[in-house]
Amino acid sequence: MDFPREVTRRRFLGGAAATAGLLTLSPSELALWAQGTAQGAPAQQGQRRPMSEAEWDSFAKLSSNENCWGPPDSVMQAMVHGLKYGNRYGYPDGNIVQEIADHHGVKTENVMLGAGSGELLDVVGLTFLDSPTKKVVGSDPSYGSVYAQATSIKADAIKVPLLADYRQDIPGLIKATKAHYRETGFVYVCNPNNPTGQIITKREMKTLLDGLPEDMPVLIDEAYHHFVNTDDYATSVPYVIEGRPVIIARTFSKIAALAGMRLGYVIAPRELIVKMRNYQTGTINAAVKWGGVAALKDTASMAKVKAMTIDLREKAIKDLKSLGYDSIPSEGNFFMVHIKRPVQPVIEEFRQKKVLVGRPFPPMLEHLRVSVGTADEMARFATAFREVFRTAGAAGAKSGA
Ligand SMILES: Cc1ncc(COP(=O)(O)O)c(C=O)c1O
Repeated sequence: MDFPREVTRRRFLGGAAATAGLLTLSPSELALWAQGTAQGAPAQQGQRRPMSEAEWDSFAKLSSNENCWGPPDSVMQAMVHGLKYGNRYGYPDGNIVQEIADHHGVKTENVMLGAGSGELLDVVGLTFLDSPTKKVVGSDPSYGSVYAQATSIKADAIKVPLLADYRQDIPGLIKATKAHYRETGFVYVCNPNNPTGQIITKREMKTLLDGLPEDMPVLIDEAYHHFVNTDDYATSVPYVIEGRPVIIARTFSKIAALAGMRLGYVIAPRELIVKMRNYQTGTINAAVKWGGVAALKDTASMAKVKAMTIDLREKAIKDLKSLGYDSIPSEGNFFMVHIKRPVQPVIEEFRQKKVLVGRPFPPMLEHLRVSVGTADEMARFATAFREVFRTAGAAGAKSGA
């Protein structure tokens, strides 16, 4: 069941769509869908043709770095338990803040919850880009929401290109920050980086934090922390405990499969949390607070998701390699394959084959970001890839297979 194209996003988000049993999306979810939307016609610039639930189900969803397996039973049960407080404003919440604090060995005053870590990235922007002259310094490409939000509040971003091997340019970030010290509100790094999946090693992180002016707030986005499988990496939470002005962002959307339920948090020194609280806008529901507590404790399920993700990711990378396409080594639940031709039309071709894959990440416009899905979804991706690249004809066959 389709809505006519001219149905506006506002109307779509209203009751009409809901009562028709259609997919309803919050603004941030819409933004995620817009990632798919940016994949070309029929929708452009954040507007897309709404689709029925059945149509939505028919896609292999490899475009938003979600957890395709969904929450484990322990988390589902905890959320059902939390639902009984759905009629309350204040209620027992499983002690989620204390549980997070204990998990990281910090105090509750060092923890701030958000309706997804995306909300908290915005809060950091609002807090530290508090005048139009202020800028965020960060790598490019990286998770763009921080830069987009800077633009939306009329601040700016100083983007430091990735190195030739797609790693983040630590000396470049230090240099850019020092050169613009007065205007820089904070530095943003994503570790592992989205979209490349590359890590900042623990040694590099120390170099970065030691090299930046010591009062410079640094937002370290660890959304994909749980998928990392190398000893060269470590969480940067200890820097918060040391008292550095470091803000660690974590999410329950990835390893814990709660993207639709919206829960994230930051760990930061108390004085930064106090400043940030003034800008918090979202609210967190009772069910996900209980779900979050259960997720933190269900380490077995997280380990399983990590293992399955790595296995499927490496299989896909190997398969693509056998076809002649190299991927960037990734430590996330996604990877980028070099497709040797412009990505935008390829994304649309995949979409026609009912496979959603990641949006373009300029300037890496010949790389396709693929989120890890179920074995079935990855098989659909592999089939679609062969079909799309077969249609490239002789030239594609020569350079590709
Ligand atoms: C690097 C990174 N940070 C933050 C987020 C936001 O996640 P959420 O708002 O669902 O917690 C995402 C989502 O894809 C992400 O990739």
